[in-house]
Amino acid sequence: MIVDVVTLFPEMFSGAVGSSILRIAQEKGLVRINVVNLRDFSTDKHRKVDAPPYGGGAGMVIQVEPAVRAVESLRADGRGGSRLILLTPAGRKFDQAAAWALSKEKGLILLCGHYEGFDERVRTLLQPDEVSIGDYILTGGEIAALAIMDSVVRLVPGVLGSPDSLKEESFSSGGLEYPHYTRPPEFRGERVPEVLLGGDHKKVSEWRRERAAERTRESRPDLI
Ligand code: ADE
Repeated sequence: MIVDVVTLFPEMFSGAVGSSILRIAQEKGLVRINVVNLRDFSTDKHRKVDAPPYGGGAGMVIQVEPAVRAVESLRADGRGGSRLILLTPAGRKFDQAAAWALSKEKGLILLCGHYEGFDERVRTLLQPDEVSIGDYILTGGEIAALAIMDSVVRLVPGVLGSPDSLKEESFSSGGLEYPHYTRPPEFRGERVPEVLLGGDHKKVSEWRRERAAERTRESRPDLI
């Protein structure tokens, strides 16, 4: 999978893209992450990409031309089949099912807005999928792009060492995951549940199923 990110703040990606699963996925040759500076597609001699809104009002609007030129240049560079995603609080809410769907794509182009967002013609001309990571306002799409990239890349086949853990984790079967314990068996009077120390796999599975259901009921009844 090739993940292209178009942003005004490429430096926001360097730490995350070089760490943990995103780094491993690239080292394994399963994913390529390409961060593109929107300013490289400015037509202005000062590399400006924004301007005040027509009709007046606060803030600046990202101009249509650099955004369209950036996406067209990626498409001309073999990313014609990539899914184009515009990060915006006005988009469809992202969830684990959406992450699974995106993990099957050949490529993603993540377009990050900033300030008051893009000129509306970016939407009409490029027809991106519009995606939000939640009902709150971020300063720009970069943190949303990172959240999506991370949750999608870990689902790409071969990226995680033990794909079995994906089946059990929260949201994969609709609810939350069961609680985990490891050594030591007791800490400050808090003991690991006896059933987990006993080695009876059937009882362990049953206990995990019950705890997962209980957690979901208590913390996220909306998932039931
Ligand atoms: N840009 C600003 N806020 C956002 C959000 N909640 N989701 C996606 N992109 C955003």
